Amino acid sequence: MKDLDIAPSILAADFGYLMRDIKAVENNCEYLHIDVMDGHYVDNISFGIPVIQSIRKHTDIKFYTHLMITEPEKYIKAFADCGCDNITFHLECAKDPDKLIDEIKALGKSAGISIDPDTPVEAVFPYIGKVDIILIMTVYPGFGGQGYLTSSDERIRKLRKAIDEQGADTVISVDGGVKKSNIKEIYDAGARLFVAGSAVFSAEDPGKAIEELKACATLS
Ligand code: DX5
Ligand code: ZN
Repeated sequence: MKDLDIAPSILAADFGYLMRDIKAVENNCEYLHIDVMDGHYVDNISFGIPVIQSIRKHTDIKFYTHLMITEPEKYIKAFADCGCDNITFHLECAKDPDKLIDEIKALGKSAGISIDPDTPVEAVFPYIGKVDIILIMTVYPGFGGQGYLTSSDERIRKLRKAIDEQGADTVISVDGGVKKSNIKEIYDAGARLFVAGSAVFSAEDPGKAIEELKACATLS
């Protein structure tokens, strides 16, 4: 991954024109963020494997899959088989996170672990260097368009410090409420892979919105 990237979240796309919206961003970033919600772990249901299978046929962009589902262990292989490149599960849902990470890697995929705003950030420290991505939720998962929780800055800083101390290359990703006005503060705290839904897909030109977000992150 580059030093800084945006992962547009298709939760904010127009599902009636899903491929049109994916085409609008596929040349501006490495990853497309795909939110899978099961109505159990979070109070919302989005979409699942058949949709991912369908869009996989029409784009080469990497799929960064955010599983907001209980019992992720049941579905890892299915998500790998339908063409996901990264599989990120919630620490809060996993019975045996280490086993799940090994399984994702054995399937040849990049592994990610995510935590909710109420889970202490230290809970992910044991997975530094083991996973490719640590995803800090910066809103309560389930819905797009919420405001960034500013208490996340401190959590990101703590994680940045722990990763740097270990010299690990685990990427810090953030998800929720990222926009042009706050991306610099989040970048400065240490995040590098920014999931952005409404900030990208509500824009008239989603590709341009991605470039603007990147530029705002490193403004001096
Ligand atoms: C929320 C999802 C996010 C969501 C972000 O549970 O995980 O990926 O799409 O949306 P915005 O960027 O609009 O906050
Ligand atoms: Zn997400």
